Amino acid sequence: MALVLGIESTCDETAAAVVENGRHVRSSVIASQVELHARYRGVVPEIASRAHIESILPVIQDALRQGQVTLEDVDAIAVTHRPGLIGSLLIGVTAAKTLAFAAGKPLIGVDHVQAHLYSVMLDSDIDVKFPAVGLAISGGHTALYSIRGFSDIQLIGATIDDAIGEAYDKVAFILGLGYPGGPIIDRLAKEGNPEAIRFPRTTLSRTSLDFSFSGLKTSVLYNVRGHKGIERTSADLSQQQIADVAASFQAACIDVVITKLKRAIRHVNAKSVIIGGGVSANQGLRAALAKLHVPVYLPRLSYCTDNAAMAAGLGYLHYQAGRSSTLDLDAITHSQLARA
Ligand code: KG4
Ligand code: ZN
Repeated sequence: MALVLGIESTCDETAAAVVENGRHVRSSVIASQVELHARYRGVVPEIASRAHIESILPVIQDALRQGQVTLEDVDAIAVTHRPGLIGSLLIGVTAAKTLAFAAGKPLIGVDHVQAHLYSVMLDSDIDVKFPAVGLAISGGHTALYSIRGFSDIQLIGATIDDAIGEAYDKVAFILGLGYPGGPIIDRLAKEGNPEAIRFPRTTLSRTSLDFSFSGLKTSVLYNVRGHKGIERTSADLSQQQIADVAASFQAACIDVVITKLKRAIRHVNAKSVIIGGGVSANQGLRAALAKLHVPVYLPRLSYCTDNAAMAAGLGYLHYQAGRSSTLDLDAITHSQLARA
């Protein structure tokens, strides 16, 4: 039996978890910063890194306590070291390095997006059929992957502008709803008519595996505020009209995602689809996935959004394969990764 302590601090959640053999989650502790960022309707990097500093040690201690283990008992320490906000990443990476050095444990750096995809394996006994198409959909990512194994993941398409979760959050703002907007729109969409407004489905060229959500977002803005963007506000809409916009926006997002998944399945000749990231919690999307003719693996709802169990799980695979990091492990931002 191998126990891995996972640490996650790439964005606005401080998280730690203990996972047994890469599958069984003994503990998963998440200190959410949602309330700190809600008034700014987005993550403020300086506030995030300060909050990580305050929470990181108590969160790690809680994860060890709830997992009924001590640092001595763990076999390795895994940390998501890319991609993310630099000030946020540094807190988790520094904590992981320090604990690994002090306790004499192997340190394992893992990729946050790959960890989101791995989260389908947590607390599950599925046996994934490869090659698979991977889809990472969150507030910071919208990307398709060809997956031949969790250590062999290649990018095949990505958003050229907004991430899908970002579009959800911005549309929620346009509609005068709270933050984060994804879960609120998902809930409202059930009460609205998805055919009330025909928002654009941007699929780019006929074969493109890339995504674009900025046109859809602007289209919602003009629909709600009038053609100059200043004629009305969401306060002028009835509850039913707001629900109709939410449902119609969600229908456009889902159509695009399903179209891209079908293209990617053909491109990869995939036997299955793996979806991870905050937007994979979306109930409307989960229902629409039945249209795909291959098995679709989704994380449990508690492992869709940022968590450290996914880091510990993927870290276990690296540990098993003898791939550990050194104390030189770097924190790597989105733009550094894009240039690499
Ligand atoms: O994975 P995550 O916690 O953080 C990133 O790595 O970005 O994802 C957060 C994003 C937010 O944009 C949030 O609005 C979205 O996931 N989200 C949802 C739902 N639950 C969370 N979007 C649509 N439907 C949901 N049910
Ligand atoms: Zn994430």
